[in-house]
Amino acid sequence: MNQTKKNVEFIKNSGINYFLQDSPRNWFESPVKKAKTQNNIQQNNKLEQLDEIIASLKNHETILKKSAKNLVVFDGNLDAKVMFIGEAPGRDEDEQGIPFVGRAGQLLNKMLSAINLKRDAVYITNVVNWRPPDNRTPTDEEILEFLPFLQRQIDIVNPEYIFLLGGVAAKAILSTPLSLGKLRGKWHEYKSLQLNKTIFTIASYHPAFLLRSPQYKKASWEDLQMLQKKLENE
Ligand code: URA
Repeated sequence: MNQTKKNVEFIKNSGINYFLQDSPRNWFESPVKKAKTQNNIQQNNKLEQLDEIIASLKNHETILKKSAKNLVVFDGNLDAKVMFIGEAPGRDEDEQGIPFVGRAGQLLNKMLSAINLKRDAVYITNVVNWRPPDNRTPTDEEILEFLPFLQRQIDIVNPEYIFLLGGVAAKAILSTPLSLGKLRGKWHEYKSLQLNKTIFTIASYHPAFLLRSPQYKKASWEDLQMLQKKLENE
């Protein structure tokens, strides 16, 4: 046995074997910093996966693309506990490529701050990612066409709660023809096979509807408070 091998054997026999690794061990890295680094890696992975979805959405041929200006995918935080899902981009969103930036978006921001949520702490998206002509409601076929992209986003973000804004989002995620009047005010379960978990879900009124029909704001406030209670009791 040559001298180097003897030295290695000696060190191994002394109980030390962790020196045999590809990179030097950083003994001085704090556990907090280490956790943060791991979080960053996770965050980067999520970003990469979302980039893939964005690329496939761009490649996906759809009639909606012909009249829209920009693809609108998401805004907010990839590590959010709560995901808000709307219907489809409107004119302002189509201009800017960001969901909920117009009047409905401003009301959504107010709804979030009323329950102490910052916009950049939640994940915001839509069922359909291109603006339908004249803001018409997406058809059932369009909802189904875009559903896999939405389900994939849910799996990547892995939220604890989903808040559905309006009937289109409720139909897409809860697969039900029931009206919001029947669906709101209680928790539903969205089961993700990929994540192997149940995500607690609320269906409530869309901010654009609330702007037109403010008498429903009280019910919407009750639904938001249900979410707030869950978040506070965690
Ligand atoms: N309405 C929606 O459903 N989504 C938006 O992004 C804007 C308005």
